Amino acid sequence: VVDNAPLSIKNLDWESLAATVSACRQCRLCEARKQAVLGVGDSQADWLFVGEGPGAEEDERGEPFVGQAGQLLDNMLASIDLQRGRDVYIANAVKCRPPKNRTPDHDEIAACRPYLAQQIALIQPKLIVAMGRPAAQALLQAEVKISAARGKLHDYERERIPVIVTYHPAYLLRNLLDKAKAWEDLCFMRSTMRQLKAH
Ligand code: URA
Repeated sequence: VVDNAPLSIKNLDWESLAATVSACRQCRLCEARKQAVLGVGDSQADWLFVGEGPGAEEDERGEPFVGQAGQLLDNMLASIDLQRGRDVYIANAVKCRPPKNRTPDHDEIAACRPYLAQQIALIQPKLIVAMGRPAAQALLQAEVKISAARGKLHDYERERIPVIVTYHPAYLLRNLLDKAKAWEDLCFMRSTMRQLKAH
């Protein structure tokens, strides 16, 4: 069922990218998804937030982070004066829901990476926030441990856009004690963006 034909998406605009992602059969995640979830938000946003992959509610509604983790993400955004649909674009490392919400495999993240790369090329964000390991892996193309990678700036390789790594909101729902660290990360993001805008 899966068609691993080489992807040629570098010149796609938003409309063709959305159509290509909806019809994508590059990895096994296409088999059980209800729909692919490309992303949501301002396509010219300064901020790009990247999560792991759609869950059940996202698969149903076609929008990222609309469940419980999404509520926490909205609150995190609000804490630094950001709003979904106004200031940020939100996407995921993989566009199709992994069965039973398992973590996406490396090959699935790799198969979906060209779509994320094209989203970044179209948005040209000033700052990218990787939430959780799969997002950090997709963006930095390296094995990343969140606790070691947070609190510093990384580079999104091709376009040298700064990347900040932080905990995934779903992780924070289960690990309340790390919320204080997430707040530190939010403050770091806010001050980094201020500096980026000042230049
Ligand atoms: N978790 C994610 O990583 N992405 C979503 O869209 C929803 C939950």
